[in-house]
Amino acid sequence: MKAGIEAISFYTSHYFFDLKNLAEERQTPVDKFYHGIGQEKMAAPPPDEDVVTLAANAAYQVIQKVDAEKIDTVIFATESGIDQSKSAGIYVHSMLGLSRNCRVLEVKQACYSAAAGIQLALPYLLLHPDRKVLLVAADIARYGLGSAGEPTQGAGAVAMVLSSQPKIIAFDQETGIYTEDVMDFWRPNYREEAFVDGKFSIKMYLKSLYEAWQQYTDRSGSRFDDFYRFCYHLPFSRMGEKAHFHLAKHIGREDFSEEYLLGQINETLQYIKIIGNTYAASMYIGLMALLENSAQDLAGKKIGFFSYGSGCVGEFFSGQVLPGYQQYLLAEQHRAFLQNRTELNYEEYKKFYLYSIPQDGGEYLTPRNKTGLFRFAGLKEHKRIYQKLESDSAR
Ligand code: HMG
Repeated sequence: MKAGIEAISFYTSHYFFDLKNLAEERQTPVDKFYHGIGQEKMAAPPPDEDVVTLAANAAYQVIQKVDAEKIDTVIFATESGIDQSKSAGIYVHSMLGLSRNCRVLEVKQACYSAAAGIQLALPYLLLHPDRKVLLVAADIARYGLGSAGEPTQGAGAVAMVLSSQPKIIAFDQETGIYTEDVMDFWRPNYREEAFVDGKFSIKMYLKSLYEAWQQYTDRSGSRFDDFYRFCYHLPFSRMGEKAHFHLAKHIGREDFSEEYLLGQINETLQYIKIIGNTYAASMYIGLMALLENSAQDLAGKKIGFFSYGSGCVGEFFSGQVLPGYQQYLLAEQHRAFLQNRTELNYEEYKKFYLYSIPQDGGEYLTPRNKTGLFRFAGLKEHKRIYQKLESDSAR
């Protein structure tokens, strides 16, 4: 028996900012953004979206696809938490009306946390094959205005139901892990934006990839040639390319052409290029881009996953695509959503970026923008208020 993904979906802001306009504002050649880092657009969340609404809007779609009464665990992976004590998952659990006989928790280790959620859920599901785990990963990636990280910003969420009756991906047991105490990217509690040592973070990502791969192959006996496609953590799309070339070089497969190697990752980059970094959710948005856009039937193919979270933890793991997976995807819905988003101009992007909620405990309503079914309506007595709408703005 294998456990894995039974249903999966993503959600992002209804608004985006095109990097050609950022290039103009920052007096940077647009090719640096479009080709150098491989990013074209970034999702920009309005004041009435936060990680809870992003996650709830993604999760609402997946729980329609499964027997939701069997969900007895909700894991919320994020590094954009809204409370130091209460898990963001409790809001999502309540908004979705899940069973109260359920454990709910939040996990954090930068962009790696969703992979930790998967690895913790799998043995639990094998021990309790009648139960399901809802894993949500949601983040808002923010860097300083005018900083090198700015064009890699984004926002989004992934929701997946993990179970011992997977329909989309069945995960393998063996993984390879690497942890090292480094300061490549971090966000102290008093800061809204991350600090980052960009070049060093890329170096640590690549080092962790190689180290995790070594342990994975030692433990599993799998080889590079066993894999059909690779899904990497994608802080920006060119990072996927850098990672894959690095891995091929370090294992001595320089005989593979650039075209062949790019073919192993290209489909995974499609959505991230127009959404931006979504931290914990990024790699799984890459997985959906692959499954939803591949011209080939991927059934039976082996996929490699490398999750990296700054600070840092990297884990390499693998899984097989299951026969008939296509009928369990939300491909049309996702593509239509991305095509129908609203473009912001620079002033509008900056207004969303600079918006901050008052901290005085007073009653406060957030301005109404396009959102999904759930929106962050405001605050009262330091408590966050969420609202369920009649319908999603996208419908
Ligand atoms: P930068 O210094 O602005 O960019 O920062 P650059 O000068 O290195 O240029 C980037 C690429 O554009 C280079 O290509 C240039 O040659 C090229 P490369 O050498 O890499 O092949 N370029 C051009 N190409 C075409 N036309 C031009 C042109 N000019 C230059 N005119 C950096 C780039 C990624 C460092 C920055 O955006 C950054 O700091 N980003 C945030 C950190 C990050 O994403 N790190 C990735 C690894 S760490 C990670 O993934 C974890 C993370 O997700 C957080 C978490 O775990 O929670 C970040």
